[in-house]
Amino acid sequence: MAKKILLSGIKPTGSPHLGNYIGMIQPALDLANNHEEYLTLLFIADYHALNTIRDGAKMRSYTYDMAATMLALGLNPENMAFFRQSDIPEVFELTTILSAVTPKGLMNRAHAYKAAIAKNTEKGEQDIDAGINMGLYTYPLLMASDILLYNSDVVPVGKDQIQHVEFARDIAGSFNYLFGNVLKLPEYFVKETAASIPGLDGQKMSKSYGNTIPIFEESNKLRKLIMRIVTDSKLPEEPKNPEESTIFHIYREFATAEQTAELKSMYENGGLGYGAAKEMLFELMIKRLEEPKRKYDEYIKNTAELDKVLNAGADRARSIASKTIQKVRKKIGVN
Ligand code: TRP
Repeated sequence: MAKKILLSGIKPTGSPHLGNYIGMIQPALDLANNHEEYLTLLFIADYHALNTIRDGAKMRSYTYDMAATMLALGLNPENMAFFRQSDIPEVFELTTILSAVTPKGLMNRAHAYKAAIAKNTEKGEQDIDAGINMGLYTYPLLMASDILLYNSDVVPVGKDQIQHVEFARDIAGSFNYLFGNVLKLPEYFVKETAASIPGLDGQKMSKSYGNTIPIFEESNKLRKLIMRIVTDSKLPEEPKNPEESTIFHIYREFATAEQTAELKSMYENGGLGYGAAKEMLFELMIKRLEEPKRKYDEYIKNTAELDKVLNAGADRARSIASKTIQKVRKKIGVN
């Protein structure tokens, strides 16, 4: 029997940070490497990133950066397809086709678009659509096309993306209702634990807050960043709540279950100062990331190798995509 398809996309962000690592890179790696019952498709969503990246050189380097990061952290590209969204022209054809069966009102209800117009309204803009491009508006449509093109069974996403998978189901339903059963309705899958981690200042780690820790930082810089993590002013001897500590939240992501339990009890028993906890975090991260960093440095110098991997992935993905688009074309009556 053909394997079920598991698909995920990651936007190239530029120097991925720990928030990206925990929120999307680690879950994607886990899915790709540890679920042999599925065929995994994982792509770099460069055309989704185009809405905000307005510099070709940056797009190129962010894409390589993401590819090198995934491979350095252990993605095995062999029994899967790891590719660039933009290498599959069928996705844009499907987007156009689906736009004909997608109610405009559906896009009006998308969270990101609603947030953007709410911001404009708050700012007192005359035009609530000020500064909003069509790419942002139709973002969920391109994403539906990503999902439906490959007959995806399962789409692992962060909570903020659930709506997009639901839209993909709606859109597939409309198409199938009108033209016959061609597009598979996907399920989403949300990773329950830590979808986001706090950054240096305790807010959600995000580039837009300037509070990030890059994954492959030089060790002396990494140490400095970790020392900057904001804590409360509890004294070393006082018991502390690990759940309220950014240090603990990050530590947990790199630690074994025993290490986590140990740090937890050190927090709760008192006697551990935040400085010492930061030192533990630093040591752990260096240990975990030293080898991946060495690999990353190699990959990023060898973009020809990255292209080779991504092109091979695109060939695999395209063989699925072209079958879907042929069926769809037949149904809608074009050649
Ligand atoms: N929108 C997703 C994000 O921002 C990235 C993405 C694009 C995606 N296309 C996708 C994820 C298809 C899953 C399936 O994280």
